[in-house]
Amino acid sequence: MLELRNINKTLGGQSVLRGLSLRVERGETMVVVGSSGAGKSVALKHMIGLLRPDSGEVMIDGQTMHTAGGAELRKLRRWFGMLFQGGALINWINIFDNIALPLRERGESSEKEIKDRVREALEMVNLPQIQHQMPAELSGGMVKRAALARAIVTRPPIVLYDEPTAGLDPILSRNIDRLIQHLQSQMGVTSVVVTHDLVSAFSIGDRVALLHEGRIACMGTPEEFQHHESPLAHEFIAAQFGHNQTFQTA
Ligand SMILES: Nc1ncnc2c1ncn2[C@@H]1O[C@H](COP(=O)(O)OP(=O)(O)O)[C@@H](O)[C@H]1O
Ligand SMILES: [Mg+2]
Repeated sequence: MLELRNINKTLGGQSVLRGLSLRVERGETMVVVGSSGAGKSVALKHMIGLLRPDSGEVMIDGQTMHTAGGAELRKLRRWFGMLFQGGALINWINIFDNIALPLRERGESSEKEIKDRVREALEMVNLPQIQHQMPAELSGGMVKRAALARAIVTRPPIVLYDEPTAGLDPILSRNIDRLIQHLQSQMGVTSVVVTHDLVSAFSIGDRVALLHEGRIACMGTPEEFQHHESPLAHEFIAAQFGHNQTFQTA
């Protein structure tokens, strides 16, 4: 469905992605974990065509993304909904207009259709009557959910989430996890979730991949990942949960 093949990317003189390969199957939730600065956001930006690789390929459903430009790129981007790191609603327009934005950009829906779609998206994320409120009037968790509604309002087949639980307390984080699972089961979307929250990774991921030094160091189901032979997986888990497994070797 979505594949990165041997991606290399240097940014600001720093080799960020070094032979990154990752294949995401249709309908699965792939979680990419890795420490801060590992290149997770950079990898997501390659998937959606916001960054181009220095070398390597980005494929979406058999079509090449990395060479697409202009109208072709815009068409391929329609496959995606994206929840950007930090949520990022536009502060000076209300929630309705924020969520309607991707539909209006496409210019294909009537105002009536837009109203229905926005209402439907808000119901999906369990946000009732807040359409006329401004972003500043909402709590952090509600902003995140409204941003999620905006990411899915066009009913995209692929949704990318960049740190969906960052900055939220554990209860709100689990809430967002459940929502991601709900969207997945209701809409059958293919999801890529970037996070450094392992609780989240293990609860929502069909597979979990660890990004380290610009490539995938290890990958598996949550179960496999937790018992992975790679010392890097152990270290990453130990750093979050404090298990004393750091120096265990095979
Ligand atoms: N546009 C850019 N210009 C220069 N360096 C960048 C740019 N974007 C990201 N980087 C660098 O690439 C590395 C990976 O960044 P990022 O993908 O944002 O990490 P994270 O895994 O925390 O999401 C960081 O060292 C960051 O400083
Ligand atoms: Mg990031």
